[in-house]
Amino acid sequence: MNNNFGIAIHGGAGTILREKLSPKLEQQFRAALTLSISNGYKILQDGGSSLDAVQAAIIVMENSELFNAGKGAVFTHDETNEMDSSIMCGKTLACGCGTLLKHIKNPIIFARTVMEKSEHVLLASDGAEQFAKLHNLEIVEPKYFHTKRRWFQLQVVKENEKETETTRTILDHDGDNSKHGTVGAVALDKDGNLAAATSSGGMTNKRFNRIGDTPMIGAGTYADNATCAVSTTGHGEYFMRLVTAKDISDMMSYKNLDLIDASKEAISKLSAIDGSGGVIAIDKDGNIAMPMNTPGMYRASFSANDKELSVKIFVEE
Ligand code: GLY
Repeated sequence: MNNNFGIAIHGGAGTILREKLSPKLEQQFRAALTLSISNGYKILQDGGSSLDAVQAAIIVMENSELFNAGKGAVFTHDETNEMDSSIMCGKTLACGCGTLLKHIKNPIIFARTVMEKSEHVLLASDGAEQFAKLHNLEIVEPKYFHTKRRWFQLQVVKENEKETETTRTILDHDGDNSKHGTVGAVALDKDGNLAAATSSGGMTNKRFNRIGDTPMIGAGTYADNATCAVSTTGHGEYFMRLVTAKDISDMMSYKNLDLIDASKEAISKLSAIDGSGGVIAIDKDGNIAMPMNTPGMYRASFSANDKELSVKIFVEE
């Protein structure tokens, strides 16, 4: 029995500034993060698996309009929503991922189903949705994902494109506080098993079926009981180039770095190629790291080591 169980979550990293976040919205974020982490922690406390804990934590964020995942997913250039997700089990290295999902209410449940009910790792688009129907996952009409704030955000970007005569794809979390990001969770359970999961709507105004780091095992998500579990948030192309999540695990096993140093090093590598974002990570001893190179990252942690729930938004907190 491992008494150092714990969980960490993120709800996106980016230009999150105190002066731009209204007290009401800040309170809504803190409440949603608290609910998400509490649901995940309770599962761990009751002896449940890290996979169930990360899934439960992510479902709360996918069902909220606040985050760029599930219900609050951003719009593509063609005014659709295309969602990505992944989940990984640190004990077996089994994993499941989905991309270009348009009608699946909870992309994280889809990823878990791919992991457990298929012989594959990544399913995409129409085929993915056929698979979801076969396994009775909840399918919704596109209007379920149509939120006023995300729609407005797309119109602003398109207007800006017209004015500047440039093509713009913006990160879910860039700029003002109406644009927030990808969600993720990492956990260690009482049996010593690690798990990581990530879910995202990607980037506003994306086109050509652009896919980010979220459904890419090793880039956006990784878990290995021998080292750690990691979920990333930020500009996906950079995490894909650096294979960030697996890199943190590799720095622990090959360079003998501890979790804190390996995670910091990953953020230094991100900064060195002008990428932006953050990571959350937990190791096999329940240590938690949540570094970023952005002014903020919606995040929370709760571990048996620390014994208290912590919710943070701004980098200096
Ligand atoms: N990190 C999410 C994305 O770039 O799609």
